[in-house]
Amino acid sequence: MISIAIDGPSGAGKSTIARMVAGRLGYLYVDTGALYRTIALFFLRHGVDVEDGAAVGQALGQIQVELRYRDGEQQVFLNGENVNGEIRGDDISQMAAAVSPLPVVREFLLGLQRDMAKKDNVVMDGRDIGTVVLPEAQVKIYLTASAVQRAKRRCDEYRAKGIACDYEELLNSVMERDLKDTTRAISPLRQAEDAELIDTTYNTLEESVNLITDYVTRKIASLG
Ligand code: DC
Repeated sequence: MISIAIDGPSGAGKSTIARMVAGRLGYLYVDTGALYRTIALFFLRHGVDVEDGAAVGQALGQIQVELRYRDGEQQVFLNGENVNGEIRGDDISQMAAAVSPLPVVREFLLGLQRDMAKKDNVVMDGRDIGTVVLPEAQVKIYLTASAVQRAKRRCDEYRAKGIACDYEELLNSVMERDLKDTTRAISPLRQAEDAELIDTTYNTLEESVNLITDYVTRKIASLG
């Protein structure tokens, strides 16, 4: 099996790019952020306090997360319920940033992620895929863009959907999340030593997808 790990900060275009690259290669796209978001959804629904270790442990004992694919699109299930439509809100993003530093949560999701890569050729995106989840991945990419550009893109996305956007607030939230993701004790966001750094600040989406597909194709060919 071939695994392509794509890590990087939020808003760098990882999921859109990873999905498109996976589509071109005929690989399965695995969005690992959705797993953390699903845990966050359960915690929000049940008022679980992330500071309370016993409550967190108990909650994880009641959670079953599963990934299934419908028309090639990843669907995430929480205890048998398809929660794909419930995990993109801002409240979930905030909660996901609070649950993802917890070692028990990371451990809880590790096996599921590794199993996906054992069964299929995958393009897996996240924060620690190349460093922790799939350290043996044949191709690793660290995808980034300036915080200003990432906030601007997110604002454009909101506006396109008719949602009002406060750019300054969004930029602060991007920087806050970067800080949380890069400074946490367990599996902090960082570039793996053998990962290719790709900065998309000045690229269009299409340019980035072409660049990465070319890089991945050359890298896979070189594996022989
Ligand atoms: O990529 P995203 O915004 O959907 O990720 C949601 C949260 O989960 C974010 O705070 C980072 C975290 N995350 C993580 O810690 N490790 C991953 N492999 C994927 C996401």
